[in-house]
Amino acid sequence: MGIVTEDNITDVVVASLGKYGDITDRQREIMTSLVKHMHGFIKDVRLQHSEFMEACSYLERAGKLCNDNRQEFILLADIIGVEVLVDMMTNPIEGNASESTVLGPFYRENPPVLPKGASTIQKHYDNEETAYYEGYVRDQNGKGIAGVTMDVWEDAPNGIYENLDPDQPEYNLRGRFETDENGHYAFVAVRPVPYPIPEDETAGELLQFMGHHPNRPAHMHFILAKDGYRPLISQIYDADSEWLENDSVFAVKESLIGRFKPAAEELGTDLHFEFDFVLKAEEMAVAAE
Ligand code: BEZ
Ligand code: FE
Repeated sequence: MGIVTEDNITDVVVASLGKYGDITDRQREIMTSLVKHMHGFIKDVRLQHSEFMEACSYLERAGKLCNDNRQEFILLADIIGVEVLVDMMTNPIEGNASESTVLGPFYRENPPVLPKGASTIQKHYDNEETAYYEGYVRDQNGKGIAGVTMDVWEDAPNGIYENLDPDQPEYNLRGRFETDENGHYAFVAVRPVPYPIPEDETAGELLQFMGHHPNRPAHMHFILAKDGYRPLISQIYDADSEWLENDSVFAVKESLIGRFKPAAEELGTDLHFEFDFVLKAEEMAVAAE
């Protein structure tokens, strides 16, 4: 079966998988589905050759943009909801465990290690609102987990992350904290503000092609980690933020929305944000015989 027609082309390609080299079951599963969906899409829109060539040159331009500071393909995947869907496939909701969401491109490894209650603020802005963030990290039975590391990062009140802004000190608004013996965490930072994802080059072209906007609602990013538990990459969202209902990267989950309240005087900040997390225990690896 090698002579193709519009009717048999999909079956011909699928039948060719693994014919001239060993492939795993997973490779076969992925390639079969990919070929079927891709062919289905092309037939659906009756894709024309000029459009195909345009798509190839678009992907070439996207590839050339990738460097240590910009991973264009993740950004493009975010804009069409692919990264959040992959995350949902990787980390399905399980019982009362906290929901994950996309990492985004602005995480920096090894942020400053700070004591409980310390501030991540290194530069002040006229429009800033300071906030005391606190809560508990618990297991699925409600027991506080001690020694959970918590990396946090957010944009500054000018809507820019520190690593993209030459006017901010290194690691501004980033920190690594740890829960105490009761699983309690606390730190001081600012209230995040909505900001646009990069909207130039191929990301901008895709947003325009979709008739979409680049804005994300105000959020704080987190990575929670402790041996024996599944790491949690997530974000918490400001209930009063614009764009909550139409995030440009579709990453908002209902369970991740919290509310800033005015802070009691003894906290020393403008606002107070309380949010608890639940970590799922890692399944024990079955020892190989
Ligand atoms: C972010 O939240 O930092 C982000 C996520 C996806 C794409 C761009 C930015
Ligand atoms: Fe972000």
